[in-house]
Amino acid sequence: MRFMTAEPFRIKMIERVKKMTKKDRQQWLKEAGYNIFKIKAENVYIDCLTDSGTSAMSSEQWSALMLGDESYAGCKSFYKLESSVQDIFGIPFVQPTHQGRGADFIMAQIYCETGKYALGNMHFDTFRGNAEIIGTHPVDLVLDVGMDAASEYHPFKGNIDLSKMQRFIDEKGPENINVVIITITCNNNGGQPVSMKNIREVSEMAKKHNIPVVIDSARMAENAYFIKTREEGYKDKTIKEITREMFSYCETTVMSSKKDGLVNIGGLFVTRNESVYHKANHLAIVHEGFITYGGMAGRDLEALAVGLQEACDEQYLEYRVGQINYLGEKLKKNNIPIIIPVGGHGVYIDGKRFFPQIPQCEFPSQRLVCALYEEAGVRAAELGACAFGRKDPESGEDIWPQLEVMRIAISRRVYTNNHLDVIANALDYIYKKRDSYKGIHLVYQGPMVSLRHFTASFELLE
Ligand code: F0G
Repeated sequence: MRFMTAEPFRIKMIERVKKMTKKDRQQWLKEAGYNIFKIKAENVYIDCLTDSGTSAMSSEQWSALMLGDESYAGCKSFYKLESSVQDIFGIPFVQPTHQGRGADFIMAQIYCETGKYALGNMHFDTFRGNAEIIGTHPVDLVLDVGMDAASEYHPFKGNIDLSKMQRFIDEKGPENINVVIITITCNNNGGQPVSMKNIREVSEMAKKHNIPVVIDSARMAENAYFIKTREEGYKDKTIKEITREMFSYCETTVMSSKKDGLVNIGGLFVTRNESVYHKANHLAIVHEGFITYGGMAGRDLEALAVGLQEACDEQYLEYRVGQINYLGEKLKKNNIPIIIPVGGHGVYIDGKRFFPQIPQCEFPSQRLVCALYEEAGVRAAELGACAFGRKDPESGEDIWPQLEVMRIAISRRVYTNNHLDVIANALDYIYKKRDSYKGIHLVYQGPMVSLRHFTASFELLE
């Protein structure tokens, strides 16, 4: 009988959070120019801005911290991390970095060339930024269902569309494609998983054309759990058997350990190609730190070595994915338009369907972010017109992204289902009076349009 679905841990330490008044929050929103990144965290009741670097560590991780040595050449904490990584990824060469974008930088420097292409399901912003600085064109080739926030259930909406990939290779020529990057799970379209079959087939196609494959593995344990529970042939495999198979199809993997590493800081560049490893070492020495610490303190290496193992624990993953599903089911019951199925690290609300009266040029998902904070002190993130809107370089016209969503990211092992009930109730309240909302107007954006969401200011339209 399956009635034991509670958290597979007890709470040993707590951090107080404050409830504030709606009037206070309205004032703070105004002062922040209606940009949620500028709100102080202490003025947030439930923080769902990100699942990155926000995990609660276990008592085993806290005790491992004390074993951390000074992090320089050959420190013993590195060797613990190295063997933990080799165990999960099945790849020999491990270069730590200070966080995911440090690994993205090294990867882009090694794999990308000016004027060429980097293919992927949906590239994450930090790789995209690094590629753009080099002059490489990042290309998203996710399935069409993965680009439509209103599409029906599909178990693997993070998959790369193989026919799009083949067409692209034929059109541009394999010599013009530097790399294929598979992001697991696919953050930008809902934390949607990629199937083992897709990882295998993408890798076979790439290999045929001599194109290296890299996996962005920030949420690899959640992806492995979806493979176990949704893909034929994997239900009796362990999570580690699945992770090792996933990574057997790539040359290199980069990881932001701030997600499925269950730590607050750290990153990894892991490869089976020795010459790539040597190049990564040199880039790390210049930009990150020595080979055996890459910008992390010895204690952080220790906590990550333990956290990676905990993230691959099946009972933990059942709870983790189950908690996201719990929130998704509550919202669905209230007819709130979300991306289905829910992904591994959050629930994504379709801004276009939530506020159909607000056009994309008036930032419907950003308006929802502000409404949710105003009503309940819950902080979420906009992934829509502000974060992904662009100007056409020739005409200067706005180009609006296909996906227009608000992401409610759930931190690992931090909130209880009671917190999630508060979010669901607040959204229900806002949804019932959705017709009364108008859009917002962008009044300031920084010099780089691709990073404008971090510093933009808005005004409410009356
Ligand atoms: N790759 C993916 C898929 C990510 O989601 C992130 C970060 C990174 C790389 C960069 O890693 O932050 O450690 O430098 N995502 C965070 C988020 C910021 O909120 O989704 P980092």
